[in-house]
Amino acid sequence: MVETIRFRNGRLELVDQRLLPGKFKYVKCDTPREVWFAIKDMIVRGAPAIGITGAYGVYLGIKGIRGKDTAAIVRKAKKTAEYLATSRPTARNLFWGLERMVRSAMNNRDKTPALLKQLLLREADAILDEDKRICRAIGKNGKKLVPKGARVLTHCNAGALATADYGTALGVIYSAKDKIREVLVDETRPVLQGARLTSWELVNEGINATLICDNMAAYMMSKKRVDLVVVGADRISANGDTANKIGTYSVAVNAKYHGIPFYVAAPESTFDLTLKNGSEIPIEDRDPMEVKRMGGKLITVRDIKAANPAFDVTPAKLISGIITEKGVILRPTRRRVLQILKG
Ligand code: MRU
Repeated sequence: MVETIRFRNGRLELVDQRLLPGKFKYVKCDTPREVWFAIKDMIVRGAPAIGITGAYGVYLGIKGIRGKDTAAIVRKAKKTAEYLATSRPTARNLFWGLERMVRSAMNNRDKTPALLKQLLLREADAILDEDKRICRAIGKNGKKLVPKGARVLTHCNAGALATADYGTALGVIYSAKDKIREVLVDETRPVLQGARLTSWELVNEGINATLICDNMAAYMMSKKRVDLVVVGADRISANGDTANKIGTYSVAVNAKYHGIPFYVAAPESTFDLTLKNGSEIPIEDRDPMEVKRMGGKLITVRDIKAANPAFDVTPAKLISGIITEKGVILRPTRRRVLQILKG
């Protein structure tokens, strides 16, 4: 599996996902500004991956502080976290990772500056390591939902490139590999995470995958080419409404119409229990040029306006289950979400 995020010799290294599948290259980050740009420009993307990246970004912010003032490190950790939080608004995991780093700084403010720095690096490492275990647990829990000989449709990329291990939605696919006959991969306009990233991952892993344009999904469902859908998530409100890559909502509507189970796979860190429902989830609006260009080339007339919401919200009533590391929340409601997450 590809190592999407690594921390080596005091630097954060990220696979440059803007270049895939054509080129495989790491980008090195030394400063919070570089980390901010890496998240904003989608060098790194996917909810868990940007949570981990943000955590290392906080460490990079405090790493160079000299002197004996521990309070200055705590202040800088908070400021760096606030700054990194402005990079992308939708994925809960980013804020979760940043908050965790700030909490760790506060809880250790009685330590020496050298020790505090060490502890903050350890915290970012722990976030990365935990994500590996979480992916495996999601994969294991999701495997039980996959029937033998299944044909699975996925949207966007919720795989190794979006996490520290083999992914969430793709984690389910990888762990159930033996039972899966075919994976249909939505291309995922406009950034093409499906065509560029998921296709690359699945082919590398020897999984029988077929790329389709986003507008082919309903047809494939009507022709019985899909037995279940599994996608990732960027933010899930307390009642189970789920924000994920734009286009996920139409896949869910189509799955419902055709009586096909629709699953979301996501860690607890994607849930935002402060939000009652999905209407409260902030949706990122990206540069319209992402829609107007493809592979750097203008595909339309220069003067047309373009809309570019990066995510949409799938209502809980269209979701058959949310696969988490703690178990599967079947037919999610607020009560069932709390039951699984809070044990
Ligand atoms: O804009 P992106 O590529 O960051 O969006 C990613 C998604 O929507 C993923 O499905 C989601 O973050 C889950 S990744 C495990």
